[in-house]
Amino acid sequence: MNTPLSFASCRPTRVSIVGAGNVGGTLAQRLAERNLADVVLLDILPGRPQGIALDLMESSGIEAHNRKLIGTTDYVDTAGSDVVVITAGLPRRPGMSRDDLLRTNAQIVAEATKNAIVHSPEAVIIVVTNPLDVMTYLAWKVSGLPHQRVMGMAGVLDSARFQTFIAMELNISPKDVSAMVLGSHGDLMVPLPHYSTVSGIPLTELLDAATIERIIDRTRNGGAEIVELLKTGGAYYAPASSTYAMIEAILLNHPRFLPAAAYLQGEYGLHDIFLGVPIRLGCGGVEQILQLKLTDAEQAALLKSAASVRENLDQALALL
Ligand code: NAI
Ligand code: 2OP
Repeated sequence: MNTPLSFASCRPTRVSIVGAGNVGGTLAQRLAERNLADVVLLDILPGRPQGIALDLMESSGIEAHNRKLIGTTDYVDTAGSDVVVITAGLPRRPGMSRDDLLRTNAQIVAEATKNAIVHSPEAVIIVVTNPLDVMTYLAWKVSGLPHQRVMGMAGVLDSARFQTFIAMELNISPKDVSAMVLGSHGDLMVPLPHYSTVSGIPLTELLDAATIERIIDRTRNGGAEIVELLKTGGAYYAPASSTYAMIEAILLNHPRFLPAAAYLQGEYGLHDIFLGVPIRLGCGGVEQILQLKLTDAEQAALLKSAASVRENLDQALALL
């Protein structure tokens, strides 16, 4: 008879995703199929997270992944997570005002963060729920965590859209394109053409100003363009890929420079606000905020973007 050997107990890396909707479910798939982490999917809808987790487990032999996925409605099951992603929220429904949506998502994000952090006090939190920059601030506020461990995902997505549209325009592989978008997630985002390059060549040397402006416009409307096409719901493949890229940098400690909503204390002339800026992201979370030299027009656009976040933030804090 074979005698089992004794094994040292290994703690696998674990990511909890609060909100097993389109973004949450797709992110779970990416995490498992790329063998990055075990996944706990949590949702308020009983059955949904369990169904997605089981479905993904049943693909493990075919996809050759070794990851455990759990679906739950109980935060106890999320205990010991290294990263918590908040993708829970409601889309705007007919008859719902912007204030109603802001209030509802603020309550959902605040509750989700508080519950998750009780069971995973060492976790890094990545917020995805919209309005992104406001929700990230709320999550940080209620979590009581150091600001380095709370961030919002949007800059990677907005930059990926800019990258895609540049590659489409030049008819080249997006691999050769590096694009940078700062500011809030929405139509006041600030794409930076002179910090965007193709194989090291500044974009401004490859495309004329009118073409760049057209691409920037499409990037700003990237989310809305998908909503218009899908009719029900928004984008989720590129958002899940973008969130995955951030989690990979953290869990593998492969530090990267990328844009994310981070807490500002004077950088870019802004205080006490989460806004999309270039950061160094590694196992410690936001390890550094990179201060780029902006033109006067870019700096003005960034301040305008921040002012609109501040207005929504003040409203959200008053509504809570
Ligand atoms: P979805 O509607 O497919 O999923 C949301 C999920 O949250 C649903 O399954 C719902 O049951 C769940 N939920 C609602 N209240 C909850 C609660 N209290 N606790 C736990 N779960 C709860 O939406 P989707 O497409 O997955 O998007 C999620 C959020 O992410 C939205 O706010 C969306 O606007 C935002 N988003 C942000 C992006 C970004 O770049 N930051 C990109 C794409 C989406
Ligand atoms: C997006 O940009 C709606 O935030 C979502 O696709």
